Amino acid sequence: MDTNVWKKLSREEIKQRVFHAIDNNVNFIESDVIGIPGSRLDPRVFYQDAPFLADAPFLTSLIRNPNHIGCHTLGDSEPFFAGTQAIELETIRICAEDILRAEPNTTDGYVASGGTEANIQAAWIYRNYFQQEKNAKSDEIAVLCSTDNHYSAAKAANLLNLRFVRVNVNDNNRKIDSIHLEQTLSQLKKDGIKHVIVIANMMTTMFGSVDHTDTYVDALKAHDLSYFIHVDGAYGGFVFPFSGEPHSLDFAHPEITSVTLDAHKMVQAPYGTGIFLIRKGFMKYVRNSEASYVKGLDATLIGSRSGANAIAIWMILSTYGKQGWTEKIQTLIERANRIARALDNHNIRYFQERGSNIVAIRAEDISRDIANDFHLVPDDHDNPQWVKIVVMEHVTDDKVERFIERLRGMQ
Ligand SMILES: Cc1ncc(COP(=O)(O)O)c(C=O)c1O
Repeated sequence: MDTNVWKKLSREEIKQRVFHAIDNNVNFIESDVIGIPGSRLDPRVFYQDAPFLADAPFLTSLIRNPNHIGCHTLGDSEPFFAGTQAIELETIRICAEDILRAEPNTTDGYVASGGTEANIQAAWIYRNYFQQEKNAKSDEIAVLCSTDNHYSAAKAANLLNLRFVRVNVNDNNRKIDSIHLEQTLSQLKKDGIKHVIVIANMMTTMFGSVDHTDTYVDALKAHDLSYFIHVDGAYGGFVFPFSGEPHSLDFAHPEITSVTLDAHKMVQAPYGTGIFLIRKGFMKYVRNSEASYVKGLDATLIGSRSGANAIAIWMILSTYGKQGWTEKIQTLIERANRIARALDNHNIRYFQERGSNIVAIRAEDISRDIANDFHLVPDDHDNPQWVKIVVMEHVTDDKVERFIERLRGMQ
């Protein structure tokens, strides 16, 4: 579903929209505000009168320091920051509807501190759902993911006091090993697990590999387990949907309930720009009635958070528009493909998911000098089996050419 909330705007339009939003927030200096425990940044340190600020909407939003506490898609939020919250709401809709194919206004979400928080938020909601709706005990719920999953899944299980299990993947194509999945689910059932929180991947950290939702769904149904599937798109959410490759990891698939995106990876936004998205009807499982001084209460893990982060994401996405973003991502993927072709020419083994900008190379097939000189990242610093290249904007054609030149010298 492409609802086209996502528009390409000129620099001037972006500036005006952000300044207008900031002006619609509370003004701590000009209004008689004496009750809110927040303010703009300390003017003795962060100069408010620097002339360049008139042309710098993001820096101005940092200085004005809006607090976006809470989840605004739920409808009732702190009124003091309604101006910039509107930009966050639009950002959430762009991500859910224009990127992840949700029907209009069917998702809740917020800008989280990062991918880790968004993944924990998902597991937290589903644990509470199972406990509140199915009377589940903690030891009847497991978090399940592949061996290639980011470690934040383990963090979530640890924090929430849930069993954590990883399923093997095939060492060559990085796909879930269905036999091991079967065995794992059988064992979980024997151990008394009744409910499973799956974290599926839209591009893993090390390999850029992409899971198939139905691999999990078929196996979970066959074992008659109740489950939710959360997609970790922290690495791939702003890449894979633009690759042209088919996939089953967004809201167009009825079994996907929530997704993590992360703008501080491929979108080059400031840190603090994870994005949590979930179908409507679920945030209530973590809405905290004890947060009574917060209008609308709080249903997020983080609490207070900077509204400038949402503005940064919105500004970047609006600068490109959907078409421009697609072109940018396809250029990066093509550059990754070029590296892959060079590796083929030199019989160097690697893994690259079709439509991904990550190329993971077998460590034993490439010289340590090349890996070190180009700062390739190992899967394990002590005993590397793989080293990876992540093609982003700074991985320019000339750097790729120098890398390929070094491969030629290896023969
Ligand atoms: C797939 C994936 N998920 C989650 C995370 C965690 O993101 P953050 O470091 O923003 O918390 C990462 C980080 O690299 C990641 O690659």
